[in-house]
Amino acid sequence: MEGEKKCPPLFVEGEKIDMSELVTIQPDFTRAQTARSRRSQSGNGPAVYIRTYGCQMNVSDTQTIETLLADDGYQFVDAPEHADIVLVNTCMIRETAEVRALGQLANLSALKKKNPHLVIGIIGCIAQAKRKEILEEQPYIDLVVGPDAYRKLPVLLEERLISPPGTPGLLETTLLREELYDEIVPHHQGGITAFVTVIRGCDKFCTFCVVPRTRGRERSRPLPSILREVESLVSQGVKDVTLLGQNVDSYRWEDRDFAECLKAVAQVDGLKRVRFMTSHPADISERLLDVMGTVDKICPFLHLPVQSGSNRVLDLMNRPYTRERYLGIVKTAREKVPGIALSTDVIVGFPTESDDEFQMTLDLVQEVGYDSAFMFKYSARPLTKAERLRDDIPEILKAERLGRLIELQQENSHRQNEAQLGKQTSILIEGISPKDAAMWTGRTPDFRPVVVSRNGESIGDEIPVQLRELIGFTFRGERINR
Ligand code: 5AD
Ligand code: SF4
Repeated sequence: MEGEKKCPPLFVEGEKIDMSELVTIQPDFTRAQTARSRRSQSGNGPAVYIRTYGCQMNVSDTQTIETLLADDGYQFVDAPEHADIVLVNTCMIRETAEVRALGQLANLSALKKKNPHLVIGIIGCIAQAKRKEILEEQPYIDLVVGPDAYRKLPVLLEERLISPPGTPGLLETTLLREELYDEIVPHHQGGITAFVTVIRGCDKFCTFCVVPRTRGRERSRPLPSILREVESLVSQGVKDVTLLGQNVDSYRWEDRDFAECLKAVAQVDGLKRVRFMTSHPADISERLLDVMGTVDKICPFLHLPVQSGSNRVLDLMNRPYTRERYLGIVKTAREKVPGIALSTDVIVGFPTESDDEFQMTLDLVQEVGYDSAFMFKYSARPLTKAERLRDDIPEILKAERLGRLIELQQENSHRQNEAQLGKQTSILIEGISPKDAAMWTGRTPDFRPVVVSRNGESIGDEIPVQLRELIGFTFRGERINR
């Protein structure tokens, strides 16, 4: 490997985004391929440790990477100290997530001092957005690979494994419009639940959000390959599948929309439950709510981020709906899907958010009565439109607003849970309770965690229960006969 070259991107396929700052350092493929075939003949591949931060999409991407690397003979270990290669799959959706991932990298630099042959790769969203800054600021990093370039990981890793310590790092962050990792079945780690990506990327460009910059344009997977993946998972014992996408409601393949995709997945034999996330209030259709209300296997659970209760702030966020429209969707969802559980995401302290506007958010949260919510302080993210607005809400005020919102939501969650006591429902048994080996743990269709005494059942069984008692946010249930 001869030093750093500025050259055109390595793999120019499909549509690329913002290539202006891209610097790719070209690996020597022939050399890497030779080393790879020599290695795969010996059947004893290097040990990889992958640390994953962030959303379910990252978890799912890590599973795709595991399949890719396992096919090439790599082995997986559960601690960076035992690894030849450490990959950190990063998230930068909020500042806190970024700080956490970068903190992990700092720990790895200490490990590399002890073992200069250790290969350290940063992959995922920070890799995509920060690109060459990472290599400039943290020269011990060997590899920077964005979310659309994981197919190249085996060959990039080979190149690093045969490069002497101190060789400049490799960078591959091309965004490809058509990359879906479609035929790669993500490595399933056992258990009865699994995630299946149906759509990658996002075209919504909410002004606070870096995702369209890190994950690129929206593209839907063909329905037949989604169904093949679900069937394969079911044959490995999966009973409960969550369909994933930044915005599942804009799924489109040929003339099929998300409602049809969901319905088709629910028809897979042997699958007991299907759920999905995330929905967007501007795109969700009544047809989807109809399907949820009529197909038994589809869980009555909807994650519908509202972000703010103020129309002016929603407009600044480029969220193309009003609070009135949002409340209308909630009303329709409750009519069409009786007993539906609702969850949301909320941001407090978006630039210029006034006390009155924050109060509108509190009022909306109170009015909807969410079962659960993810609540965040706004943090400016690189490459976003809001980054250009003055982040004028002082940290202390953001913290105070967040505290008030969390308090309100905790009361709501508690009230919603108490209203469930005595209800007869069912749980899908996921495993033995980590706190008490005499109990099973599972979830109701509307996603509430329940523990119940073990009595000859098996993991993956769906059993009728009555919700008897609340221990924090977990229910104690009792098996009933129905
Ligand atoms: N600041 C705070 N929260 C954010 N989110 C996304 N970007 C930001 C940001 N810059 C939140 C939104 C989104 C969730 C996944 O993360 O609420 O729905
Ligand atoms: Fe980000 Fe908005 Fe897309 Fe969600 S819908 S991923 S918040 S841009």
